[in-house]
Amino acid sequence: MKKTILITGATDGIGLLTAKKLAGKGHRLLLHGRSQEKLSAAASQVSSVAGSTEVETYCADLSELDSVKRLAEEVRAAEASLDILINNAGVWCTPVPVNGQGLDMRIVVNTIAPYLLTRELLPLVSKEGRVLNLSSKAHAPVDLEVFSGKTEMSEREAYAQSKLAISMWTLQIADELGPDGPVMISVNPGSLLATKMVKEAFGTDGADLSIGADILVRLALEDEFANDTGRYFDNDLGRFAPLQDAGMDPAKRAALVAAMDEVIAEAGAKEPSTN
Ligand SMILES: NC(=O)c1ccc[n+]([C@@H]2O[C@H](COP(=O)([O-])OP(=O)(O)OC[C@H]3O[C@@H](n4cnc5c(N)ncnc54)[C@H](OP(=O)(O)O)[C@@H]3O)[C@@H](O)[C@H]2O)c1
Repeated sequence: MKKTILITGATDGIGLLTAKKLAGKGHRLLLHGRSQEKLSAAASQVSSVAGSTEVETYCADLSELDSVKRLAEEVRAAEASLDILINNAGVWCTPVPVNGQGLDMRIVVNTIAPYLLTRELLPLVSKEGRVLNLSSKAHAPVDLEVFSGKTEMSEREAYAQSKLAISMWTLQIADELGPDGPVMISVNPGSLLATKMVKEAFGTDGADLSIGADILVRLALEDEFANDTGRYFDNDLGRFAPLQDAGMDPAKRAALVAAMDEVIAEAGAKEPSTN
């Protein structure tokens, strides 16, 4: 059956290749990017894959939460339902370290933006649907002070915290939704795959990008993952794996979600009035 699939960060790397592979299977692709120029180029590449049917595009910078909210509104206005949401967009190196709210870019783009987008789009996703969240092998215990902008940290540390955090909220929301919610899985697509993020962060060319795209296609479509909600798939190991201790602590996960809700509420309070 043809599925409607939204992929964030579909203009490059793992997201773009995953979009091409899913389009080649005849699914309807909603591509998100932050640059209209790259988005148009990506849409043209995805449309020209053999078997591709429909491709739509959505442009939004996920480093500002009001822009994430607008993206969700646009998707809700255009789509009656969504089968699969792939929260793939992510950053390691950024020209400016914090966003307009004073929050670390990695924490916003890699953790809070996908949480907000998921929360806003969940009403469109049925319990047969799936939400895939791009995590990483790099995990570090989450310091909630970074959610108030009070702590500065290195790119590496912020990235690792952002990636444990996305796996933590995946498990937390999956637990809260239970069998009424879609299957939610966080995934390390494979370490040091050949993308611009890896080139910028490590100066290495990296391994075959298909390793990452293929696991996303499988997790999105295959029946064998239908009962794996909340789990973390480590593609370096080729199997599900437990999160490190902090990630398995329900109180820490609840505190993380509460901290993100606070940041989102604060961002909302600062939005200009539409009256
Ligand atoms: N490559 C690896 O080995 C590896 C390993 C573990 C996890 N991951 C994760 O896999 C995901 C994809 O990464 P990748 O390696 O494919 O990196 P990439 O090639 O740099 O692609 C990242 C995507 O995210 C988009 N993006 C970045 N910042 C954004 C923002 N502020 N607003 C909207 N979109 C934004 C980028 O847009 P532009 O095209 O405009 O830059 C691009 O489409 C990330 O979540 C990453 O953390 C990758």
